[in-house]
Amino acid sequence: MSASVTANVYSSHVPAIGAAIDQGKATGPYWDPLMAGYETSKAWIKENTPDVIFLIYNDHANAFSLDLIPTFAIGTGPDFPIADEGWGPRPVPPVKGHPELAYHIVQEVIPEGFDLTIVNKLEVDHGLTIPLTLMFGQPDEWPCPVIPFAVNVVQYPIPTGERSLALGKAIGRAIRSFPEDLNVQVWGTGGMSHQLQGPRAGLINQPWDNAFLDQLIADPETLSHMSYVEYLREAGSEGVELVMWLIARGAMPDMEGADAPTVRHRFYHVPASNTAVGHLILEA
Ligand code: DHB
Ligand code: FE
Repeated sequence: MSASVTANVYSSHVPAIGAAIDQGKATGPYWDPLMAGYETSKAWIKENTPDVIFLIYNDHANAFSLDLIPTFAIGTGPDFPIADEGWGPRPVPPVKGHPELAYHIVQEVIPEGFDLTIVNKLEVDHGLTIPLTLMFGQPDEWPCPVIPFAVNVVQYPIPTGERSLALGKAIGRAIRSFPEDLNVQVWGTGGMSHQLQGPRAGLINQPWDNAFLDQLIADPETLSHMSYVEYLREAGSEGVELVMWLIARGAMPDMEGADAPTVRHRFYHVPASNTAVGHLILEA
């Protein structure tokens, strides 16, 4: 009896998507093509609701400010309130955690050399809630517990690609050694190319994003050697969020010798707000 990583879900986490859905305005020529890309995913997750989601995202100075910047923070609490990002908390259900699995991961991964920050009280921002909304719509309660895993991609130095992939592998091993039959999905959020500030604000790089998706699927090892300078140059200052997708990818069982994952769904749409939206579902 042990837990397994059954799938990866990757998604951008553009806050305007949440604002549009929350206000009942996510229709019409601007939003329809984007929402259509998540219809398959919503149907898929109804059939494939996991027992737990391990959700890798970045906090955007909501739970953590420049006063305290953990590189890797794991939410070990039983519940995670929705952060107020300036307009009141999003009207979505609070997120319930899975302290037993979260602490198991802490106990396995820290001795492997990844100094996770243990966060018992954590408010979660759009980085975590937008992908939940895109996948599950607007339920009264989220259908399963979520372990938040926040990564610093705001204040340099940020984690390298190599370290991100290696961390993902350690997380995958930890999940698979949890002595309970849990179906765990590992989600990676953020990206794709976008820059929200400065002279290059609005930058989007479609060929680069699609090459990133190709390589994330087929050759994450090579992809992990890309330096943060290339993310910055090619995908923009907030495009560096994509390094978190390597953590999620590392947790898949093919990294430990199992068969390559199956691409269940792949979607790319430009733009939502200032961002290229990428979305991918990989099944183990
Ligand atoms: C936008 C995208 C993000 O990833 C984010 O965290 C904030 C804003 C945007 O496109 O507006
Ligand atoms: Fe972001």
